[in-house]
Amino acid sequence: MISVAQGSIQESKDDTIIVNLFEGVPKPGGATGAVDKALGGAISELIANGDLMGKTGEVVVLYPRDAIPAKRVLVAGLGKSDNFDVEDVRKAAAAAIGRARQLNATRISTIVHGGGIGDLPVAIAAQATAEGSLLALYRYSADKKEKEDEHELQSLTIIEYDKNKIAEIDAGVRIAQAVASGVNLARDLVNMPPNVATPSKMAQTAEEIAREFGFGLTIGDRAWASERNMGAYLAVAKGAGEPPKFIVLEHNGTRTDLDTIVLVGKGITFDTGGISLKSREHMGLMKSDMGGAAAVLGTMKAAGILDLPLRIIGIAPCTENMPDANAYRPADVIKASNGKTIEIISTDAEGRMVLADGLVYAAGYDPKAVVDVATLTGACVVALGEGMAAGLFSTDDNLKDKLMKASQATNERLWPLPLWDDYRKAIKSDVADMKNSGGRFGGVATSAVFLKEFTDYPWAHLDIAGMALSEKSHAYTPAGGTGFGVRLLVEFLQNW
Ligand code: BES
Ligand code: MN
Ligand code: ZN
Repeated sequence: MISVAQGSIQESKDDTIIVNLFEGVPKPGGATGAVDKALGGAISELIANGDLMGKTGEVVVLYPRDAIPAKRVLVAGLGKSDNFDVEDVRKAAAAAIGRARQLNATRISTIVHGGGIGDLPVAIAAQATAEGSLLALYRYSADKKEKEDEHELQSLTIIEYDKNKIAEIDAGVRIAQAVASGVNLARDLVNMPPNVATPSKMAQTAEEIAREFGFGLTIGDRAWASERNMGAYLAVAKGAGEPPKFIVLEHNGTRTDLDTIVLVGKGITFDTGGISLKSREHMGLMKSDMGGAAAVLGTMKAAGILDLPLRIIGIAPCTENMPDANAYRPADVIKASNGKTIEIISTDAEGRMVLADGLVYAAGYDPKAVVDVATLTGACVVALGEGMAAGLFSTDDNLKDKLMKASQATNERLWPLPLWDDYRKAIKSDVADMKNSGGRFGGVATSAVFLKEFTDYPWAHLDIAGMALSEKSHAYTPAGGTGFGVRLLVEFLQNW
């Protein structure tokens, strides 16, 4: 949807143009200065009168009254220039495009925010401008019969005066479009109600991705999983009415000359807790318990669009967790596909069960690194806060560094948590190799040491509980499914 053009933004024939301003600048320069001049100093006048400050998130609208072809000019604040970074660009782009949409703009031109005096590399600034815009424009509306009466945005053009920057802007925009389509796919999957986003729907989505990019695809059913002795995954699936689907997508699957990275996403399409039933309050939020799988599918889609030069395997063990006459129970002893046995303490600790077999399956690809993404524990939300950060556990410092760097670049926050061997005591069982729950204390870490039992490669675990679904909207993330993890993982893969 986004195009890039060389020219002067004040000459744009679109109905709406977007420029920007740093806080504390009395007289704008660059493209904003050119627009100011064309408007006879209208922007400087707003600044002088204190009606335009340039604060992050601020958007001021001006009407040029035929001084230029555009019907309206939006000035987006970039905040103070001293601690300015790429996140401010995303926020400014999101605020401006949101305002433009409210005003029923149909054709919009914008400059790259922060690419001039902002001192950011122009490709990065362009990517952030495009990403902030595309992510903010996202809406989930599939289920409403009456669509809100809203003008469709027809075009968004990024205009740059300096022709030497065009190629880099093009490159940044291309990445942004790939990333945004991955994020927005993940958001859609989380936003869909759990009777729609079933394991079969997840499989169908994977199939569409596989077809579009020529990926290898395996959709394992109960019999398939059973042939592979995936007792842990199947235990959770036992009570499910919806047929479970163990999804495997392979990008460059046969290219064993490339480094292999495996992503494993928890795909519980609804978590009732099973026999260890959750309380009724907030249970509906557990439709987001496939947020990890959604992030993996979204990342695979972006990897396909960008045709990343890696062998990337996306694994998503999907099933519901339901109470049922056939459901697994507390005190059951279950054998996972690596032969290790698990004493069930709580059927609500189901995520680690499905991941166990997912992680064992990952080893078959001889990976350089495996990253799992899972809405795994309420304890993680208690520790770090809702929507604040995902917990990061890793057995490999290099992998951990790379993930932390990607986290920094994308502002999808990760926070390192410990994998101390001592936590293992909490899941020691008298009747099996381990218990599936270590009790109340340190629940985020005891779940991670449980998962570690199923890995034998450089591994990282991202606990994204509290991150996949947000009741509030943020700068470029509307309320609902956030798509958390996609931007982070794509950035990580690009820099591998
Ligand atoms: N899906 C939940 C974790 C969760 C909680 C995700 C809040 C998002 C928001 C997970 O399956 C779960 O139920 N975990 C239990 C584990 C316990 C039984 C050991 C928990 O965190 O209470
Ligand atoms: Mn659970
Ligand atoms: Zn769960």
